[in-house]
Amino acid sequence: MKIAISGKGGVGKTTLSSSLARIWASQGRRVIAIDADPDANLAAALGASSAQAAQCIPLSEMDDLIEERTGAKPGRGGMFILNPDVSDVVERCGVDIDGVTLLRTGTVERGGSGCMCSEGTFLKAFVHNLLVERDDIAVLDMEAGIEHLGRGTAEAVDAFVVVVEPGTRSVQTAHTVSVLARDLGVPRIFAVGNRVRGPEDIAYLTHALGEIELIGTLPESEAVRQADREGRSPFDVDPKFTEALEAIAAALVDTTTQSQGGA
Ligand SMILES: Nc1ncnc2c1ncn2[C@@H]1O[C@H](COP(=O)(O)OP(=O)(O)O)[C@@H](O)[C@H]1O
Ligand SMILES: [Mg+2]
Repeated sequence: MKIAISGKGGVGKTTLSSSLARIWASQGRRVIAIDADPDANLAAALGASSAQAAQCIPLSEMDDLIEERTGAKPGRGGMFILNPDVSDVVERCGVDIDGVTLLRTGTVERGGSGCMCSEGTFLKAFVHNLLVERDDIAVLDMEAGIEHLGRGTAEAVDAFVVVVEPGTRSVQTAHTVSVLARDLGVPRIFAVGNRVRGPEDIAYLTHALGEIELIGTLPESEAVRQADREGRSPFDVDPKFTEALEAIAAALVDTTTQSQGGA
């Protein structure tokens, strides 16, 4: 099962990504969590110590590994291999945080013609390997831009989740990224409502999201805010929040197993 999580800044992507990763890991599944947001803080949300977080170096900055696999150092032109072997990158570069394997993609400077550089090619190959060739659970914490998902890779995302708040701006972002995701070939797009206070918020979101299905909602939680300040994972600090998360985790498992069992 591969889940990509996107949405407007500050809406709760990292909170949801880390919590889903921790829930599935606590059920004994092998979970790989990918921090693909340039504003990277998934490590902290998973409850990593600062030493663990520091150990998690962005893949785009692993110059020696990128050169070894592509034949070219990042930031230099020249010839490089277009299909580098990245099959061992999860085992080699992943940092274990309480049973979740964390990797950071880092960012790639994007030139005028998209990215024809060794580090961009390396990252694309890594995401492709993760989504298409591995059968662990993968949770990708992404920004609203979804350029890490190329064609041929996006199809492998079982569920693309856009986090929204009960307000116009994050819903607008949801519509924008869902159009991008659909164009890339992502089969299933859902929204998760965060900081939802009651039935009015749910009614608003259901209406404003239109064709994007609201797969679940999370309540605003003082304990979740507090967990963030203390560098703890938010997934088990508030029974109401955890219950809502478990429902979302189960609904995501349901839709993806249905689709795999069906046509
Ligand atoms: N349901 C919630 N209740 C309380 N605080 C929340 C909730 N969801 C997110 N937050 C807080 O809001 C801030 C932004 O959340 P975060 O997940 O980092 O957003 P994003 O990754 O989308 O930028 C964090 O401080 C987080 O702890
Ligand atoms: Mg984030």
